Amino acid sequence: MCTSGVAAVAESYKTFNPSAYLQNNYMPPRATFTSEEFAVPWKLRCLADSFATGEIYGHTLIDVGTGPTIYQLLSACDYFEEIVATDYLEVNREAIRRWVHGEDPGGFDWSPFIQHTCRIEGKGEPWKEKEQKLKRKLKKILPIDVHQPNPLGSLLSQPADALVSAFCLEAVSPDRPSFDRALQNVSTLLKPGGHFLMIGGLEESFYLAGEAKLSVVPLGEVDVKESFAQSGYHIRNFRSYIMPPSLKVGVDDVQGIFFIHAQKAA
Ligand SMILES: C[S@@+](CC[C@H](N)C(=O)[O-])C[C@H]1O[C@@H](n2cnc3c(N)ncnc32)[C@H](O)[C@@H]1O
Repeated sequence: MCTSGVAAVAESYKTFNPSAYLQNNYMPPRATFTSEEFAVPWKLRCLADSFATGEIYGHTLIDVGTGPTIYQLLSACDYFEEIVATDYLEVNREAIRRWVHGEDPGGFDWSPFIQHTCRIEGKGEPWKEKEQKLKRKLKKILPIDVHQPNPLGSLLSQPADALVSAFCLEAVSPDRPSFDRALQNVSTLLKPGGHFLMIGGLEESFYLAGEAKLSVVPLGEVDVKESFAQSGYHIRNFRSYIMPPSLKVGVDDVQGIFFIHAQKAA
């Protein structure tokens, strides 16, 4: 195992700044809700469409590498009793805790994301109800390290019915073998036959989060599909998004975004 590569990644995350990360990726221009040509509504559409099939449901959903964000859980929360957020960094776990407990009045405003999700789901759900529902279901916020064979240690005893993970594995892996191992490690958290929804950067080599410059392993669509197939998944859906020039704003060199819905062999 390339321990030094993984150790260098851990070192680089010490200066990860959640507010700067949110500013770079979850404010306009990327978070503009007038059209799905913008990155954030495109991601929300992928998630809403997948859950709308009604095939992805169960007791527990784990989000791997939640970061300081909750958008990736908005459509999921109708289909699970319990949602487990996870992150390597205490600052990010604290950001989620504060949002759940409403302890951060000046904190990041997720309401446009929640309103947009309610709109595209088309069920007429008032956005405040969805917000409360997600807060209620976010029962655990746990430390995780995707480079460990058992990423959550002994914190969860039962495998989850589904996994979500957004912009995590490629952003914490120094190279492709490390990405593949991380995928295998997190797959141990998923029960056989369970669904995995992953969103990530295509052909990206770095991103910024305040002082921190984080390395990313550049992946193409074929790499992602190959990694999932080799880890024993059946690919149910794959979509990709090309980053328009207007959204290349100097905070990373991402060329696009992939979305994969994969199902673990039963
Ligand atoms: C690019 S951010 C993604 C955040 C969020 N999921 C999103 O969609 O914007 C990558 C996340 O991976 C987390 N991370 C760093 N090292 C990790 C590790 N070894 N295991 C799991 N997560 C890690 C970081 O703290 C950060 O929150």
